[in-house]
Amino acid sequence: MTPLSHIRNFSIVAHIDHGKSTLADRLIQSTNTVADRDMKAQMLDAMDIERERGITIKANTVRIDYVADNGEAYVLNLIDTPGHVDFAYEVSRSMRAVEGSLLVVDSTQGVEAQTLANVYQAIDADHEIVPILNKIDLPAADCDRVAEQIEDVIGIDASGAIRVSAKTGIGIHETLEAIVHHLPAPKGTEDADLKAMLVDSWYDSYLGVIVLVRIIDGRLKKGDRVKFVSNGTVHHVDRIGVFRPQMQVIDSLGPGEIGFLTASIKQVRDTRVGDTVTHDKKTVTPLPGFKPAQPVVFCGLFPVDSSEFEDLRDAIDKLALNDASFSFEMETSAALGFGFRCGFLGLLHLEVIRDRIEREYDIELITTAPSVVYHVYMRDGSMQELHNPADMPDLSVVDHLEEPRIKATILVPDDYLGDVLKLCQDRRGVQLDLTYAGSRAMVVYDLPLNEVVFDFYDRLKSVTKGYASFDYQLTGYQTDNLVKMSVLVNDEPVDALSMMVHRDRAE
Ligand code: GTP
Repeated sequence: MTPLSHIRNFSIVAHIDHGKSTLADRLIQSTNTVADRDMKAQMLDAMDIERERGITIKANTVRIDYVADNGEAYVLNLIDTPGHVDFAYEVSRSMRAVEGSLLVVDSTQGVEAQTLANVYQAIDADHEIVPILNKIDLPAADCDRVAEQIEDVIGIDASGAIRVSAKTGIGIHETLEAIVHHLPAPKGTEDADLKAMLVDSWYDSYLGVIVLVRIIDGRLKKGDRVKFVSNGTVHHVDRIGVFRPQMQVIDSLGPGEIGFLTASIKQVRDTRVGDTVTHDKKTVTPLPGFKPAQPVVFCGLFPVDSSEFEDLRDAIDKLALNDASFSFEMETSAALGFGFRCGFLGLLHLEVIRDRIEREYDIELITTAPSVVYHVYMRDGSMQELHNPADMPDLSVVDHLEEPRIKATILVPDDYLGDVLKLCQDRRGVQLDLTYAGSRAMVVYDLPLNEVVFDFYDRLKSVTKGYASFDYQLTGYQTDNLVKMSVLVNDEPVDALSMMVHRDRAE
């Protein structure tokens, strides 16, 4: 058993492509966690689609044994978080499960929008942060400038930032030492009632649902009966273990440790990220911040060949087994025949599910334009969720509408600032902030999500020639004047929602 003082739990935050997975690979390899011959590049990105596109979709974790220069043995638990905004809630939970972060910034690129969004989550979670300047092997690396930028934009001390090349291995030893000496040890009480955070879960066809937990207090043992606090379900734990990164079964997990349990759980839906796990018959205060994932972007999926409808149903059923945040219901369309209306956390999530159906199940799909969920408030005070403009109730009974809004952060070179402001303005955006980070502007906008799911990324890319970086957070539902007005001025209820946006843009 490792004493609490010798455990370090951390995550890596970075903008896409700044080298998070490569650094994780190097940490795993240099500590001999995985034998060299078993090492495949991007060890932690296990899913095919992740590997192909080089993006991390689900959080993963690995336990690393490290003997530090002071001769003492430490256990380092790395949680690899998904880098994309669609999974912001998962990221926030993984952050709460650890005490520190490595902030990886590409020393040839500097701070980007996603770096900021993720590092603010880490700061929010009270993390100790170790800045790392990566890719110093490249001739374009400019460590001093990027360190200064980290201080200016993020406001953390980067004078001691570690200079690393995750590719060649420079600075990896220093990184391991910094994890041990700069990140705090976890706190927790062995004798208290069991309290663990459910960090992630996924379905395995042999073991059932695998649940990743961080033990806060108490001890979890094989054979225990545990309860998920949000839904009160009780399960018999049949296996406990850690990832190295392949599964290794152990007897128990104590305070501060991160590992998995299996308990013959059949559905991922029963295991909600952020939930609290305790022993059956015990009552503990649930961990704060738990909320079940809610799909916000919807679209219809129809098979190109209508005879493949049943295959599509099978594929969707199987995918939903492993993804509690993905929703679906059957839909018929006069033009497209039988299909499904599906709900996703965001556009990337949509793309990933669609790709998997097409590739893994070999079904060609027609996807309808993505839309968001509106809240329709009726004159009688009740509220309905509107997933499909075709279901818009009769306007005579509608009082007002609310639509989901986001806080978008865009970092862009000065030259393109005007175009970006115009784009946001055209999309019914409200400017919240405008600051400078070196020669780049950082703009923060409040925007309707509906305007972003459509073609915002593509437009942003084209007006800035690919130089802008973009990130967003869902801020919630608000009444927008335009929505209110359009509903009132439009005679045709069915088209009221889809038309208003385009009409407004044309004007
Ligand atoms: P996502 O998983 O997509 O969020 O990206 P990531 O941040 O994990 O980046 P990843 O590790 O996949 O690295 C992105 C690219 O940068 C890959 O092609 C790496 O080979 C390359 N790369 C990473 N670290 C270094 C480095 O130190 N030097 C050089 N030259 N290239 C690097």
